[in-house]
Formats: sequence, C-alpha cells, structure tokens
Amino acid sequence: MSDNESTSRKRIFSGMQPSGEAHLGNYLGALRRWVKMQDEHDCIWCIVDQHAITAGGDPAELPGHVLDLAISYLAVGLDPEKAIIFVQSDVPEHTELAWLFNAVTPIGDLERMTQFKDKSQRFDSIPAGILNYPILQAADILLYKAEGVPVGEDQKQHLEMTRDVARKFNATYGETFPITDPMIEKGVGRIMGLDGEAKMSKSLGNTVPVLADEDEVWARVRTAVTDPQRVRKSDPGRPEVCNVYSLHGFFTDEETRADIATQCRAGEIGCVDCKRILSDNIVEAFAPFRERAAEYHAKPELVREILDDGARRAREIATETITEVRQRMGLDWRSSIG
Ligand code: TRP
Repeated sequence: MSDNESTSRKRIFSGMQPSGEAHLGNYLGALRRWVKMQDEHDCIWCIVDQHAITAGGDPAELPGHVLDLAISYLAVGLDPEKAIIFVQSDVPEHTELAWLFNAVTPIGDLERMTQFKDKSQRFDSIPAGILNYPILQAADILLYKAEGVPVGEDQKQHLEMTRDVARKFNATYGETFPITDPMIEKGVGRIMGLDGEAKMSKSLGNTVPVLADEDEVWARVRTAVTDPQRVRKSDPGRPEVCNVYSLHGFFTDEETRADIATQCRAGEIGCVDCKRILSDNIVEAFAPFRERAAEYHAKPELVREILDDGARRAREIATETITEVRQRMGLDWRSSIG
C-alpha cells in the first residue's frame, strides 16, 4: 500500500474471475479491503467474465457464476452507492482496447509471465487467450485510467505488464495513461488454504465459501490441517506453524487467541476444540453477509438492476477513453474529411 493512499482520492479498479460464490481467501485477501477503500477512493469493481473463458469452463455454468459472485460482492459490502460494480462483458470497450494494446505489447513479455508458463502446461495446443490474458487485464485497468489496483502478490507481474503497456503507449502515441500503482497490501501475504499447503482457491477445494451456513462452515473447518507433529490432544502444539491458529488472527479476539496458544502449547486444548472456536467465529462474522445474500437471492432482478446501472456508468468513462485512444492511433478516419 502506498503511503499517500489515504490522503489523496484516486481512481481504483479491481476485478475477480467469476467461479461462483466468493470464499474466505477472496474475502481476507481482497474483498474486505475493497469495502474499506470505497469510502476513500472512486472505486470500480468488475466481474471479469471474459478472463474466465480462457480457463475453459462450462458455458452453461458461467451465467450462474457471475450472479453468485455479484451477490457475494454485494453481500460482503461492496456498495453500488459508493462504487461502480459491473460485469466486464457488458462493456465491449474492454476487448476493443485489448486489441489496440496488441500494437504495443511484445510477445516476449507475454511469454515471460509465470502464470502463462504455469497455465500453458495444461494444454497440448495453447489458446492465444492464455498468452494474451494480461493484455485484457491492462485494458480493464487503463480503460478507466485507474491509478491504483488493489491486488495480491500473485498479480504483481500482470500489473508490471500493465505499467509497461501504459508507458509504451504514452511514448508511442502521446501521454494518455497513468502508470498504475499495484496496491499490494503489506503484512497480509498469502492466505493459505485449509490444507495448509497451497493458497486458498476454489479449484483446490481448500477453502470456506463466504456465504456458507453453520454446518457447511464446520464441515470445512473441521478438515483443516493443523500442526502435523501434534497427533494426540496431550501432545504440545506449535501455534506458530499452525494454519488454523493463523486464521484465528482474523476472527478471534486477542485474549482468546492468547489463551488458545497457551493451552495448545501445554497440550490442554485439542485441535477439534480450537477449530470449533474458529468455525463459530467465522459463522458469526459472516452472518450479516448471509442475511444480505438471502435478500438478493430472493430478488435477483435487484442484482440485475445494480449491474445494469454499473455497466452504464462504467461505459460513460470507457467511451471517453476509447474515443481518445482511437484518435491517438489514427483510427478516426472521418477526421480526414473535416
Ligand atoms: N487476473 C486477475 C486475477 O486472476 C483478475 C483480473 C482481471 C484483474 N482483470 C483485472 C484484477 C484487473 C485486477 C485488475 O485475480
């Protein structure tokens, strides 16, 4: 997070791929910060469905995933009164700008992306969309001339790419875009999944859905991996290496945490009891989200209205930028007639 973040109002953009309801990792790593930023900045929150198609999911499921992510956004407190909330494919200027950015993006830069290297290994024939993914991301951000993008450490390289695209465009066609600040939150780091091995991610099934009910939360938290050296309750545990203990840091008050740590080290509290406390605290913290989500599930047309309005507001900004970009690139042939 940059130093002057709270002092100067900035245009902020961020987005998530729709893979259904948001989970604990999305919330702790991103959404709870987005909620706070809405009061300090002009924020634009996107659901990037056009990025999602590069992952090759089932088209029949995508619309439902978009709705579920939209409901998650609204349920945790992203607020259409304070921010613009919309779906990427509702604003066709994203893909137009992405195409135009092809003119200033070296293939070598795209091939160097770690995410490209990882993802491309899953294919015999690599879709160009996986390679060009960061160009669309740069277009998402620069279409709104966003000055800041709150992202996790894993997106740092893509943000570097966005900055390169902006610099190159500005140098070639004239000063147009800001050099966006990747607002990576200090001191949070990766939120590890319940398996204690990998980053929390829906595809790995090592997380808790934000809108899960009490039984579901417990069913997930119960499976969480703790200190592997601790087999019996009487074995002394090491809270400092225990992922469940680190999750307590987000949900449990300091005094209780200190008690848990002492009792764990003394072999006085078992992992199941420790997880029970965590599970109950997660359920309690997320209760207002579940309530709000239930209202939206009952009235999905409300969600549609919010996203329609968001797309309309996003498009106002997008049209302005794309008009400027077309002119700069000479894609305004009518100007030759005068
Ligand atoms: N690549 C991001 C992710 O996987 C999603 C994303 C797409 C994004 N466009 C963006 C994030 C623009 C921030 C800004 O998490």
